[in-house]
Amino acid sequence: MLPSRVKLVDVGPRDGLQNEPQAVSAAHKIELVHRLQAAGLADIEVTSFVSPKWVPQMADAASVMAGIQRRSGVRYSVLTPNMQGLDAALAAPREQWPDEIVVFGAASESFSQRNINCGVDESMARFAPVVAAARAAGLKVRGAISCAVGCPYEGEIHPDRVERVAQLMHGIGVQHVGVADTIGVGTPRRVQAAMERALRHYPLAEVSGHFHDTYGQALANVYACLELGIHNFDASVAGLGGCPYAKGATGNVATEDVVFLLHGLGIQTGIDLDALVDAACFISGVLGRKPVSRVANALLAKRSVAA
Ligand code: HMG
Ligand code: MG
Repeated sequence: MLPSRVKLVDVGPRDGLQNEPQAVSAAHKIELVHRLQAAGLADIEVTSFVSPKWVPQMADAASVMAGIQRRSGVRYSVLTPNMQGLDAALAAPREQWPDEIVVFGAASESFSQRNINCGVDESMARFAPVVAAARAAGLKVRGAISCAVGCPYEGEIHPDRVERVAQLMHGIGVQHVGVADTIGVGTPRRVQAAMERALRHYPLAEVSGHFHDTYGQALANVYACLELGIHNFDASVAGLGGCPYAKGATGNVATEDVVFLLHGLGIQTGIDLDALVDAACFISGVLGRKPVSRVANALLAKRSVAA
């Protein structure tokens, strides 16, 4: 039986905007977060406290966190790869802290090196004090396992390597793992194999799927996870997204497409699809293009016929 309710984390403001060639102002990022929460998103990945030399698009992390008008019941998360990132996130007044932080590792050594400048074992040594300090401060800690199915530098990734990282993350106190198909090469059975390995170390409620849609498989992979009972997914408004260290990979699965699928299956999300499409149009307008999401475009076409 499929889950009756699914929680979506919109990673658009972070994963979506980190890879855009053009600068997006903090005011537009804040407006995007406001529109997402108004559409019913209860989990929003807002920004990253990373090196501005590596990812200049996230250099305004503190201003964005400071500018959000918080809505009760919404969880705001940020990426913090090291103590410097966590310290920066917690340098703000308490009411501007994130509710949750994300440490991001990889099942691939080469991707780990390129993305965070250290190998997998070294990354755990860097994450351990971040996890401990974040938990001591009362924040929840999520871990991302990038390249869980395939790697731009190493090719296919065996599920054993996902399991190893899940076990290491569990060992340092990470409370939830996101299994990420960074380059969107996964197909349902391979994705299920990766998920099953994470599920050996985490309960069902603490494993999520993060799918990029490069090969058009992301929705099929979401469905394959639902079959396993997984009920937490990352998705990105307007299908924005990408990683500067995974060239050629496209955006995340669009939140609108996932919501349409889930509602069609009778699964609740608490999200208002029309308001979400408006948020997709807003950020796509800022970027000077149309949303890539099939559902957003279909609903926009329907609106223009009705008008
Ligand atoms: P490093 O070079 O190993 O760190 O970077 P370092 O300690 O040697 O410091 C080097 C410089 O970076 C120093 O500055 C530090 O101050 C600065 P300098 O003295 O040269 O002027 N620095 C920082 N500045 C701000 N905030 C920080 C910070 N740390 C160091 N937190 C680091 C290590 C991880 C910071 C670096 O490699 C980095 O920023 N990488 C960017 C990684 C990133 O954001 N990737 C994209 C997100 S991951 C992703 O998209 C995948 C995901 O979506 C899931 C999926 O799809 O797979 C999550
Ligand atoms: Mg991603």
